[in-house]
Amino acid sequence: MRKRIRLHQVRVGMYVDELESGEVASSHVVGSISSAGDIDLLMNSRAISVVIDTRKGLDVDLDRRDGNALALASFESDLGSKFSAEQIQRARKAIEDTRPCVRDLLEDARRRGAFRLEVADKAVERVMLEAMTNAGAMIAVAKLKKQDEGTFLHSLAVSALMVTFGRKLGLDEEKVRLLGLGGLVHDLGKMLLPAELLRKRGKLTIDELGVMRTHPLRGYELLEQIEDSPKPVLDICLYHHEKFDGTGYPYRLAGSAIPDAARIAAICDIYDALTSVRPYKRAWTQAEAVETMLQSRGHFDPDLLKAFVSKMVVDGTIQ
Ligand SMILES: [Fe+2]
Repeated sequence: MRKRIRLHQVRVGMYVDELESGEVASSHVVGSISSAGDIDLLMNSRAISVVIDTRKGLDVDLDRRDGNALALASFESDLGSKFSAEQIQRARKAIEDTRPCVRDLLEDARRRGAFRLEVADKAVERVMLEAMTNAGAMIAVAKLKKQDEGTFLHSLAVSALMVTFGRKLGLDEEKVRLLGLGGLVHDLGKMLLPAELLRKRGKLTIDELGVMRTHPLRGYELLEQIEDSPKPVLDICLYHHEKFDGTGYPYRLAGSAIPDAARIAAICDIYDALTSVRPYKRAWTQAEAVETMLQSRGHFDPDLLKAFVSKMVVDGTIQ
C-alpha cells in the first residue's frame, strides 16, 4: 500500500516510492532506504512529503488504525463537526455550479489546445461569490478528491484559497479576481501532457519528471495566445513552481523576482495538495501541513506564508 508520511518518519528498511514537491529525485534516494546516509539524502532533498510503499518495505509505526481508511471514513463526520449542514450543502452546490465550466476549460485545452477566457471568468465569478460567506466549507468539501476529479477539484480549491487569501491581504476585488483566475488555470499545461504520464502512480523516471516540469511553460504558452490574457494569470501559470530561495523551476527565480501572484499561488497549491483526501493517500491534518510548510525553509515567501497562517489558519477561515 502506498502511504504518505512525513520526512521525519522515514526509517531504514522503508521503500520510498515518491518525493512530493521536492527536487528531482535521485535514484539513490527514491527506493529502498538502507542506511542513515539514505535518510540524510532524503532530508536534504527538500521534499515536502514522501510516499512509501509498504509492500516493498517497512510501514510506519502506527498505534492506531490505518491512516488512509481513517481519513476517508472520518471525512464526512469531520466536515459535519466543522460546518453546518447548510454550509456544506451550499458549498457542494457551488462546486457543482462551476463543474461544467471547469470541465470545458480542461477539455478545450486537452483536445484542442484552446482556452476561452469567458468560461474561466464565469467559474471564478461563482467561486468569488461563494467565498464571500462560505469559503471554509467550499475549500474543505473540495478536499475529497475521488478518482478522476482530482484536477477539477484541485483547480477549484486553489482558486478559492487564492480568492480568500487575496481578500484577507486587503487586495482590491479586481486583483482578487485575477488571483482566482490564476488559481483555476495554474496547472492548465498538464492537460497538454501525455495522459499516461498524468495517470502514472509512483516513481517517475528523470525523463518523465523533465516532461512533467514543462507544464508551467506549456500552460503559459497556451494562455499567452489569448488576447488580453491578464499578466498575473500568466505569471501564476508560469512561475507557481518557483521557490523563494531560487531552487524551483522552470527558471530558478528567487525572492521578489518571482511575481507576487505566483508566490501566493505556490502556498495555496501546496496547501491544497497536502491536505487533500485521496483514495490512496492519507491527507495531512491542517496542523501537519502548516508545520511542514513552515519548516520547508526556502520554498515559500516567508512573509506571505506567515500571513497565510495568521489570516487563514489561526483565525479559522480554513479548517
Ligand atoms: Fe503545477
